Amino acid sequence: PKVLCVVGARPNFMKIGPVIRALKGAGMAAPLVHTGQHYDEAMNDRFFADLGLPRPDVNLEVGSGSHAQQTAEIMRRFEPVLDDLAPQALLVVGDVNSTIACALVAAKKGVTVVHVEAGLRSYDRAMPEEINRVLTDQISDLLFTTERDALANLTREGIDPARVHFVGNVMIDTLVMNRPRAVPATATLEAVGADFRTGYALVTLHRPSNVDDPVVLARLLGGLAEIARQTPLVFPIHPRTRARIEAAGLMDRLDNARTVLLPPAGYLEMLGLMAGARLVITDSGGVQEETTALGVPCITVRENTERPITVSEGTNTVVGTDPALLLAAWRDVLASGGKTGRIPEFWDGKASERIASILYQHLR
Ligand code: UD1
Repeated sequence: PKVLCVVGARPNFMKIGPVIRALKGAGMAAPLVHTGQHYDEAMNDRFFADLGLPRPDVNLEVGSGSHAQQTAEIMRRFEPVLDDLAPQALLVVGDVNSTIACALVAAKKGVTVVHVEAGLRSYDRAMPEEINRVLTDQISDLLFTTERDALANLTREGIDPARVHFVGNVMIDTLVMNRPRAVPATATLEAVGADFRTGYALVTLHRPSNVDDPVVLARLLGGLAEIARQTPLVFPIHPRTRARIEAAGLMDRLDNARTVLLPPAGYLEMLGLMAGARLVITDSGGVQEETTALGVPCITVRENTERPITVSEGTNTVVGTDPALLLAAWRDVLASGGKTGRIPEFWDGKASERIASILYQHLR
């Protein structure tokens, strides 16, 4: 059988490598299409190199745009590619615009749609990814979940449980495989002249709800500046976030000797920075899971999470965007060392193998 795999944006790249390897290992063909949603050297090429991903067979080169433009352009360019490659199944991962766009094209052509990382719900429709998750799951034939709660979310939406398989987390497959190759944090920090051997907090921010509104952004950066007085910050900045901070004239909040701004980190660099951090402050979905897998305390600056297992079993605390709550959580980490947790079920490096064996049974 032939299973066409799609990636588009940074959070897809760290999920697809082990899946492709496992599909091929099980005797299936697994060509790769890149939509080109993320295209920068720092957002794209570094990840392909770090993760040893195969060169995409096709790159649709859609680039940036409004959600409608980006989604529509991916669909328009993907349709002839799907016709040409004629796979039995299309496999999409995660919740980005590339995920829903390609799934929708395939579903209408009667191609089996496979969604990896199905059933996660923040129950916040203001989040573009939530819309992508709900719709992709509705049109998927096979749904692979990372945590058991996802099944209840899916059955509530009328999805037949027979289509749903709990397999674990493919992003953690990548983490397990690459952990020994991580770039040590000391090397990354020394390269920019920083010596944070006494401990640092790693920061990532890019959610539209946090960075698009200058008032919310200013409050968050104010909280971070307060933390930096005591705990040095390491902040690899997403291009979208840098643009918003500059447009809002807020760059000065980060201008102090205890804050190091980095370009978006590569995968192996980021893994080392997370593993070496005293705590991580983030609004990313993937980072909430990676810190749980690494056992590093994580403070999530969002009102909700679609990944509740990182809170119930892992090291994650969801505090919202009120700086007072962020500071309280940070003080708690300083005082107690922060939340400890356990590794969730099936976050064991073998999720992709489970997916490949179920898919093979299904398609042959
Ligand atoms: C997308 C995903 C989000 C994911 C994030 C990780 C959707 C709806 N959102 O959001 O789930 O967490 O990626 O990065 O798909 N840009 C560059 N270089 C690039 C890519 C983007 O400069 O390589 C700029 C774009 O010009 C744009 C901004 O970053 O202004 C946002 O990019 P976009 O892909 O639209 O969405 P993200 O916010 O990155």
